[in-house]
Amino acid sequence: MREVLQLLQDGEFHSGEALGALLGVSRAAVWKRLEHIEAAFGLTIHRVRGRGYRLASPLSLLECEVIASASREAGWCAEVLEVVDSTNAEVLRRLAAGAPAPLLILAEKQDGGRGRRGRTWISPFGENLYYSLGLRLEGGAFSLDGLSLTVGLAVLRSLREAGLAEVGLKWPNDLLVAGRKIAGVLLELSGDPADACQVVIGIGVNVNMLPGPNIAIDQPWLSLRECSGQLVDRTAMALALGRWLKHYLDLHERGGFAALREEWEACHLWQGQEVSLLAGPQRIDGVVLGVDHLGALRLNVAGQERQFSGGELSLRLRDDS
Ligand code: BTN
Repeated sequence: MREVLQLLQDGEFHSGEALGALLGVSRAAVWKRLEHIEAAFGLTIHRVRGRGYRLASPLSLLECEVIASASREAGWCAEVLEVVDSTNAEVLRRLAAGAPAPLLILAEKQDGGRGRRGRTWISPFGENLYYSLGLRLEGGAFSLDGLSLTVGLAVLRSLREAGLAEVGLKWPNDLLVAGRKIAGVLLELSGDPADACQVVIGIGVNVNMLPGPNIAIDQPWLSLRECSGQLVDRTAMALALGRWLKHYLDLHERGGFAALREEWEACHLWQGQEVSLLAGPQRIDGVVLGVDHLGALRLNVAGQERQFSGGELSLRLRDDS
């Protein structure tokens, strides 16, 4: 099926004959096969008599070999899947089953993409990056404190390198452009964080997704394609992300988040802003002072500095109206 999609990804017409030859079926059987691809991947393929078949809109598929070979150079095992429930879940399953780490899994589509605070991460086929890197940590020497903020910096650098100068960070690890979310990070852990454990660094980047009736996201968002006006090469984006991730993970391993704190604050969009911190039903109003050496949020609350950390917290710009 991959070969067919590789042919169709340009969004141009391809004859039934060419597709039949690729699939090893008669021209008459091509449509049945394409219907199967439509159903399995949620794609729309148009058929026009005399011209052939084409995808409703072009795609940039991940080049598995290119990604695997760049990852090998970084010392990571990598695999690109077509469809999976969640790349984070897949990495955790494989590490639990004894797979070697670091282990990178990407997918063209997630059926059960996971976001922070129990949310769903919308993950249509071939549109965005669904990227999970699993690490096995022995003996607690590698600090998990502030790790998700460090990862945010890596994602930010790869987006800026792709031409998105205005992207910034929102504590703890959202990436925003003009108040709209372009990427997010979800760290998941299994085992004992003080001893032997596995951590999976899950990154979702909106690369080519455009608004449409099938995209139901309950917060303002945008994609690289919307910013640049053109289809973005997802493989190039995955490679850049890998490079920056390796760079920042090495820095984090050597100096912990403390070594990156100033750089992170320089990229924080809400420094000095009046915010509300939501922790379930509780709301704390304050002014953002920055982050501490472990990545906790520092707020001035009624004249007193307080620190906050934890995956269930969420920050909003204060709206007193
Ligand atoms: C957030 O809510 O901001 C975090 C989103 C993280 C989504 C990514 S996509 C790849 C990986 N697999 C998942 O199921 N989630 C993360």
